[in-house]
Amino acid sequence: MSLEEIKLEDLHMDSFLREKAGELSAAVGDGFAVNALSGGVDSSAVTMLGHRALGKRLKTYFIDNGIMRQDEPQQIVSLFASLGVTVELVDARKEFFTALKGLTDPEEKREAITQTFYKDVFGRLVRESGARHLLQGSIFTDVEETVAGIKRQHNILAQLGIDTQKVYGYNVLEPLIQLRKPAVRKVAEALGLPASIFSRPPFPGPALAARVIGEVTPERVETVRKATRIVEDALRDSGAFQYLAILHNDRVTGMRNGRRDYGQQIEIRCWNSTDARTGSPTRLPFEILEDLAGKIVGEVPGVVSVTYNITRKPPSTIEAI
Ligand code: XMP
Repeated sequence: MSLEEIKLEDLHMDSFLREKAGELSAAVGDGFAVNALSGGVDSSAVTMLGHRALGKRLKTYFIDNGIMRQDEPQQIVSLFASLGVTVELVDARKEFFTALKGLTDPEEKREAITQTFYKDVFGRLVRESGARHLLQGSIFTDVEETVAGIKRQHNILAQLGIDTQKVYGYNVLEPLIQLRKPAVRKVAEALGLPASIFSRPPFPGPALAARVIGEVTPERVETVRKATRIVEDALRDSGAFQYLAILHNDRVTGMRNGRRDYGQQIEIRCWNSTDARTGSPTRLPFEILEDLAGKIVGEVPGVVSVTYNITRKPPSTIEAI
């Protein structure tokens, strides 16, 4: 890989921000750029940096792909509005679910999300807007994992030899590509984003689809979304690196109201990690686990079993897909 990492200790914030803003401005010239905000720390930092560098030459979209967490699209759009950044919410739920229909293989699901995002939805937005540049928050770890063939991160294109200009009709600008997550958090803070963003736990690009084993349907996403809300509410103050709920494909026999109920299974994961490259399960108190199990079977329709994952990464990965 020819790309050189900028380590946290070598990051000189003022000059980094000045340099990147200058590069963006020069690349876009008197044209304009678009970007997609997901509310994660990477895309949020890029959105702020882009607006600082380009002002009205940047248009930001939030694409509702139907696989985000509860209320996430509206919350992120209002947060940025309060920071003076206008974000247009695009409803693309149908397109994503159509693309995911019938797919069960993890990499095929990731590929379907990538194609729907870049080619169909975003490609259309870029074409309609006439922008020549796509600003995006890819970071060093995304490139590493993709190039190593571990998981295809949905935002990595050029590093896989994909000529975005040729394939999608736009040029990709990636000002954070030399940074790892801790450095990106510092950049986000320096750009004036609130702690709810700069210290946000990671969330994958393929969103809740990375946590649905088997087919990703609106109903199955709704199940994992409800469980995610319960897990996040319970573990927000745990100090863990990342915590999540996964919906399994296999059903198990349970019982409800004295009758057999062949139901769904939710797996909880709660990770200790510093950079997501390795991880270990946190030793959550049993009371918290029991409480989580009770809430999930009580509040998420169809779920009869809740498990806690006690495997390290590697060989596990943080997400299920
Ligand atoms: P894994 O599951 O590979 O995840 O151990 C490592 C970290 O990356 C996040 N993740 C992603 N982030 N696009 C992203 O931006 C993706 O496609 C993606 N897949 C996983 C995951 O949540 C964890 O923090």
